[in-house]
Amino acid sequence: MAFRDTKSKIIIKTPEQIEGIRLSSILAAQTLEIVAPYVKQGVTTDFLNKICADFMLANKAIPATKGYNGYPKESCISVNDVVCHGIPGKYELRDGDIVNIDVTTILNGFFGDTSRMYLVGEVSEHAKKLVKVTKECLAIGINQCISGTPINNIGYEINKHATAHGYSTVYEFCGHGVGIKFHEEPEVCHIADKNTGPILAPGMIFTIEPMINAGKARCKIDRKDGWTARTIDGKLSAQFEHTICITKGKPFVLTDISNEFEIPESVF
Ligand code: MF3
Ligand code: CO
Ligand code: CO
Repeated sequence: MAFRDTKSKIIIKTPEQIEGIRLSSILAAQTLEIVAPYVKQGVTTDFLNKICADFMLANKAIPATKGYNGYPKESCISVNDVVCHGIPGKYELRDGDIVNIDVTTILNGFFGDTSRMYLVGEVSEHAKKLVKVTKECLAIGINQCISGTPINNIGYEINKHATAHGYSTVYEFCGHGVGIKFHEEPEVCHIADKNTGPILAPGMIFTIEPMINAGKARCKIDRKDGWTARTIDGKLSAQFEHTICITKGKPFVLTDISNEFEIPESVF
């Protein structure tokens, strides 16, 4: 006989917590907007990190990544074949680069987590298409965020879309519950079996952050810095991330400040 896990540690957030996480999420999204005009050829990723860090600190937020499990910087900046957790440094952006910036804010103790892609100068058609499809993957995942749906339908639909375009879905890094801590339950896989996993319910808050690769799905971690994850075959990777609150109706995308997604009337 199989046992069901009845002791899920998925936090159902209170209205007060949701409001705090909403404000932090807006600040994280604003950080990605503020840095956008600086993402240009010749600029170092360290400089972009400083723009992000200064904005977060000026708005009374703590950049959550700095010191997290020893991570050294206030953002993650992942260029081209870097899948995630790229450490800002002396690298100067070049024409044709595709760049992900990922920031997590702690505002009044609440966490908001988001990332997006930026294109540097003239980007090849195949890179542009990877970025476009990855953004679609996130939107498709968000559309699955309806109360009563098994959580793994998110990853099932994301991977279906990625593979339909000949891409592969990274399975070594996942989305995650967020808000009270940086990484909470549940784990949100971006490739998964349909109709499995915990059932979504109003007040759950988690990220969806698909990493989609042009070639093989496998990643390797840089031996020297212990963080930078690159594609095993050196091909391109793209990622977008939002923090999402499940409601009784449509999903509430807390890090969406450009009105791409509808704002639902109430959570409960
Ligand atoms: N912000 C990343 C995420 O989306 C996590 C970065 S952890 C770090 O979950 F230590 F690398 F900063
Ligand atoms: Co995240
Ligand atoms: Co993130």
